[in-house]
Amino acid sequence: MEEIIIEGLGSYVPSRIVTNFEISKIVDTNNEWISDRTGIIQRHISQGEDTSYMASKACENAMKMANISPLDIDLIIVATCTPDMFTPSTACIVQKNIGAKNALAFDISAACTGFIYGLDIASAIMKSNKYTHALVIGAENLSKAIDWNDRSTCVLFADGAGAAVLSKSNDKGIIKSLCKSQGENHEFITIGAKDVENPFLEESVSRNKKLQMNGREVFKFATSKIVECIKQILEDENMTIDDIDYIVPHQANVRIIEYAAKKLNISTEKFYTNIQNYGNTSAASIPIALNEMNEKSLIKKGNKIILVGFGGGLTYGASLINW
Ligand code: ACO
Repeated sequence: MEEIIIEGLGSYVPSRIVTNFEISKIVDTNNEWISDRTGIIQRHISQGEDTSYMASKACENAMKMANISPLDIDLIIVATCTPDMFTPSTACIVQKNIGAKNALAFDISAACTGFIYGLDIASAIMKSNKYTHALVIGAENLSKAIDWNDRSTCVLFADGAGAAVLSKSNDKGIIKSLCKSQGENHEFITIGAKDVENPFLEESVSRNKKLQMNGREVFKFATSKIVECIKQILEDENMTIDDIDYIVPHQANVRIIEYAAKKLNISTEKFYTNIQNYGNTSAASIPIALNEMNEKSLIKKGNKIILVGFGGGLTYGASLINW
């Protein structure tokens, strides 16, 4: 039992849907610009649900699919850049909410690549000790981090959570993971934390705490890394793109996906896209998409799927899954 499989999937998004038209009442934008430049038509926005609440709901659904009890969960990893608090971790709050009292729980910060990092970290921990079941969750409440006066970012981001139950198995599941960082460009996407503040400080500096992004630079980064990751995974596994049934990319911009498809010389149909309904939910976007594909019975046993992400950090990575 030395392989790690995805045994359950679940997601949660707030019921409140916000259309492009509604956003155009807040900032100087319009449906045409948003849908043409990004592919987004609508997004789900929190009505008070915080990250831990959405993550817990997604976990409950994933555990139901895997048919396992919360007491069987040994490890909980929440990938988020919008935690409820600095401490405790969102994962510890999830642990309490779902009653997984035997688990080790912690958060990771890798922005939109968080779910990919989470899969790799959980697999490594599970393989190195006696843990049998893990929950890996991507969960975000980006609506609380957005500058709702900044039209270049507020049209993009949204709220939601997706979760996967990982289990040890004799079958092959997560075949290969690739996780990378490019910290020298960390300033391209930022969400500020607290300022340095204490009674002994001679001069305090106040930084912008809202989400800020250099969209053009991130676009260039994303298009090159998505292609690089997919090529690397295929080369490492001695596979070709024809061996892959689906690519599930981080849902940031439909133009990034179109660009990657062109560079790889494949149809965009190999990429699963649901950004039109959810916007960019950062770490949650890949597990929400994967869960939706499973609910639609698109994925069949034995399918080979590449998950690929990129985002704040800058971070990027990919996982090759045998379903
Ligand atoms: N409505 C109308 N006009 C707008 C809007 C808007 N919402 N936003 C910007 N514009 C204007 C700009 O002001 C600019 O006008 P100008 O030409 O008069 O100066 C024009 O539209 C073009 O702006 P660009 O920024 O060049 O637009 P671009 O085509 O690059 O699209 C976008 C912007 C969608 C942000 C794109 O750059 C992108 O998708 N970048 C990648 C983002 C991403 O992948 N993020 C993932 C990581 S997120 C994370 O990790 C949390």
